Amino acid sequence: MTERTLVFVKPDGVQRNLTGEIIGRFERNGLRILALKMLTMSREFAEMHYEVHRGKPFYAELIKHITSGPIVAMVLDGEDAVKQVRSMMGATSPADAAPGTIRGDLGIATELNLVHGSDSAETARIEVANFFTEDELAE
Ligand code: RTP
Ligand code: MG
Repeated sequence: MTERTLVFVKPDGVQRNLTGEIIGRFERNGLRILALKMLTMSREFAEMHYEVHRGKPFYAELIKHITSGPIVAMVLDGEDAVKQVRSMMGATSPADAAPGTIRGDLGIATELNLVHGSDSAETARIEVANFFTEDELAE
């Protein structure tokens, strides 16, 4: 079944000029772009997005990094898109991420792991709606 997922290239990925490389990997794997934009997350928006991590030791650093510069957010659509994107991203820590994954090939540190992808179909629905209005999505 085809489904949508919310993905963004994090500030470290944009800064390192890896946006095209990362989007290209998703496109070459058959995922279709339904929406795409560059934005800088406000602190308020970042805290909402990463609400589940509030209180964890890495939370403050995470919010600081994710709001430090522009990100490139997109909605991707395809067969099992949520799982497909997560497996293409690789493990959270680049040290654990397999070769061939985005984080495994290009990631530098857990805090600088280049890319976000929704972790379930339910999260994807919420995140897509938080980042994009319905009329920003292609048919
Ligand atoms: P994301 O939400 O960004 O797609 O990444 P994820 O699911 O693979 O990882 P998650 O556990 O949701 O953590 C969110 C982001 O927080 C940073 N983090 N740092 N220093 C640490 O131990 C640590 N743990 C997590 C990472 O940037 C991670 O992507
Ligand atoms: Mg996550």
